[in-house]
Amino acid sequence: MKTEIIKIDPDHINSLNIKRAAEKIMEGGLVAFPTETVYGLGADALNPRACARIFEAKRRPLEDPLIVHIAWKEELFKLTGEVPEIVSRLTDKFWPGPLTLILKKSKNIPDIVTAGLDTVAIRMPAHKIALCLIKESQTAIAAPSANLFSRPSPTCSQHVREDLDGRIDLIIDGGKTSLGLESTILDLTQNPPSILRPGGVSRERLAEIMGEVRFYKPAKILSPGMYLHHYSPRAKVMLVEGEGRFQVEEVHNLSSRLNSPNHRLGIIAKEENKDEYGEFKVKSLGRGDDLITCAANLFSLLREFDREGIDTIIVEAVEERGLGLAIMDRLRKAAGARMSTKS
Ligand code: TXA
Ligand code: MG
Repeated sequence: MKTEIIKIDPDHINSLNIKRAAEKIMEGGLVAFPTETVYGLGADALNPRACARIFEAKRRPLEDPLIVHIAWKEELFKLTGEVPEIVSRLTDKFWPGPLTLILKKSKNIPDIVTAGLDTVAIRMPAHKIALCLIKESQTAIAAPSANLFSRPSPTCSQHVREDLDGRIDLIIDGGKTSLGLESTILDLTQNPPSILRPGGVSRERLAEIMGEVRFYKPAKILSPGMYLHHYSPRAKVMLVEGEGRFQVEEVHNLSSRLNSPNHRLGIIAKEENKDEYGEFKVKSLGRGDDLITCAANLFSLLREFDREGIDTIIVEAVEERGLGLAIMDRLRKAAGARMSTKS
């Protein structure tokens, strides 16, 4: 299959190009498009055959359900069963934006979208191209991140091409995504509600609306990005926790232990530490106190090191507050959870 690529400037949206992409969706095709978090791989959420193609293109297991993207809040009522009272307060504050809500599903949603669950994940993305595409397609769009299963999520169209060129119909190149990390997933079908995946809306901000929210601790690995080895580059990822000099020393110890002529090392360091590791290939994640920049750079840096043929990437942990929780969640999963060194 030939994958067509069209460029759309989010600030000057060419409606003919959007129409072209929307037609693909309406025909049951697969279209990768930018959102404010990461690129999504979209198909008509009400067309089970089209949604089945998503799993095939991504090589994603069928038991991992998809997020349904909408452009109008009213769509919620068509796609879900019960809508608890808290929903309007959450959507007033966070939609459009990086918050995905899990609600009881209505019968309009094909089973393949929800992997047979009786709940559905829904969000309204805060990106002009995504919203125009959904409106023009006159449907809701099911879209996981537009990467091959278990790879880091794409934050630009080049990443999508690396993984999915020749496997999908069209890629909309709308530039770099602003947030760079996926949405927060909040399960409102549990009592009390719980966060299944930390993301763009922090737990602290959710707490302003609904009080303390807990993180869901799975008894077994189930769905949301909860596979332990996820978001992984080809290189092995090693996470170094701790702060300040201690962390720098740990990175030094680890890198000198691993360094050898036939083992290429890369280091992702905080901006303030990046000059500490002169003899190695170092990339800056951003300042440790600027988690927005760190989030935006993370997936892109993991992929850059892959392209450069690095064998092991050592990553400095960031502080676990606000967006830092989502960053650390992705890093732990990229490291397969077992390889981190604790302070
Ligand atoms: O920011 C995002 O959320 C991006 C953009 C494209 O919107 N999407 C995204 O989709 O990250 P994906 O498929 O890569 O991750 C969605 C996660 C999956 O791990 C899936 O298991 C979980 O959401 N999920 C979807 N429906 C669910 C449900 N009904 N119950 C529990 N988890 C669900
Ligand atoms: Mg994903």
